[in-house]
Amino acid sequence: MTNRDIVWHEASITKEEYQQKNKHKSSILWLTGLSGSGKSTIANAAARELFEQGYQVIVLDGDNIRHGLNKDLGFSDDDRKENIRRIGEVAKLFVQQGTIVITAFISPFREDRDQVRELVEEGEFNEIYVKCDLDICEKRDPKGLYKKARNGEIPFFTGIDSPYEEPNAPELVLDSGKYEREECTGRLIDFVKNSLA
Ligand code: ADX
Repeated sequence: MTNRDIVWHEASITKEEYQQKNKHKSSILWLTGLSGSGKSTIANAAARELFEQGYQVIVLDGDNIRHGLNKDLGFSDDDRKENIRRIGEVAKLFVQQGTIVITAFISPFREDRDQVRELVEEGEFNEIYVKCDLDICEKRDPKGLYKKARNGEIPFFTGIDSPYEEPNAPELVLDSGKYEREECTGRLIDFVKNSLA
């Protein structure tokens, strides 16, 4: 079957109706940064706080999504590209359904992140750079993966033998190498609230 044989159906419930029900706009907060930079911790802490304040919010997280939806993907450039493409599509569905989507993927390639931006409407994609120098991430090494990568046990590890492309013009930078997690989380929450107002 080809795409020609698939006809698009208009949804019976619009994004605007969902947003009215939730009493806030919906968008993607796309956290990008090295492994160990704090993306998941910050994403989950911010989501918890927003949830308790009545926001409809979900976290999509690299390690979790790779256990399910994307368990067929590895860490080659092509697989990372497909990983991000699928997450982008999933995030778009949640935005359509009125949800604030916080994603936590290394998403090392600028082009892939830009493609997600193109998927949604103007203002619905916010690139958040969780900035932390490699040596700090490596010192923290919460999962022991940098050590393994240095020992040659994990090929193509981001920052070691696979590149990370910093965002050129992120909507927000969270300097997690410099500031405490609580500070970064607070800044993300403030950003979300301002961007939805
Ligand atoms: S991405 O590059 O495709 O965006 P993603 O965020 O989904 O990566 O997954 C990254 C997580 O997978 C890391 O935090 C780490 O726990 C694990 N991982 C396993 N192998 C690698 C690797 N080669 N490079 C980076 N992360 C890896």
